[in-house]
Amino acid sequence: MMVKIAVLVSGRGSNLQAIIDSIEKGYIKNAAINVVISNKANAYALERARNYGISAVFLNPDEYDRAGYDREILNILKQHNTDLLLLAGYFRILGNEIIGIYRNRVLNIHPSLLPAFKGLHAQKQAFEYGVKVAGCTVHFVDEGLDSGPIILQKCVPVLPEDTEETLTARILEQEHIIYPEAVKLFTEGKLKIEGRNVVARI
Ligand code: GRF
Repeated sequence: MMVKIAVLVSGRGSNLQAIIDSIEKGYIKNAAINVVISNKANAYALERARNYGISAVFLNPDEYDRAGYDREILNILKQHNTDLLLLAGYFRILGNEIIGIYRNRVLNIHPSLLPAFKGLHAQKQAFEYGVKVAGCTVHFVDEGLDSGPIILQKCVPVLPEDTEETLTARILEQEHIIYPEAVKLFTEGKLKIEGRNVVARI
């Protein structure tokens, strides 16, 4: 069965691109991205979607109240029979209604080794804290902030000569590896959630 994917974005969309590439190359099989939704009109991610004939929707937050905005997202997800919702650099809180309806079917990529450095500017937080190892996390989304069960993590060293920018780039490289890997595991039905633990049955 084909897994129908929707992706929520706000910006550059390099993680979206990594997932598109993985589907194109056949690394992720039996899955298609049907729609990309952005809360920013000028998100480059929308252009990336259009390049592949994927329906790209800008939903203007100024035109809705918070609940109305999420209801509109839900409508679009339903129109596309969405099975799996991916957050890929979506800088807006997702409402509890969507999380409830799509329970255990929403994934996010976060640029830190959770539960360290939740929230915005995680790489900057890690850099300024002085950690010697940083990284990224793919996790299920629950009602909390970056708090859902962890699917995959990858760590990278923090080198003495690093700046926040070089560290961010090193982390991003790993994001582009583990996000497609997690999506592949999900679409193959290999992820099982046991409490906080996600077990990959390979
Ligand atoms: C990534 O660092 C991701 O981990 C974070 O936002 C950034 C999005 O980058 N959530 P991109 O839009 O995928 O290029």
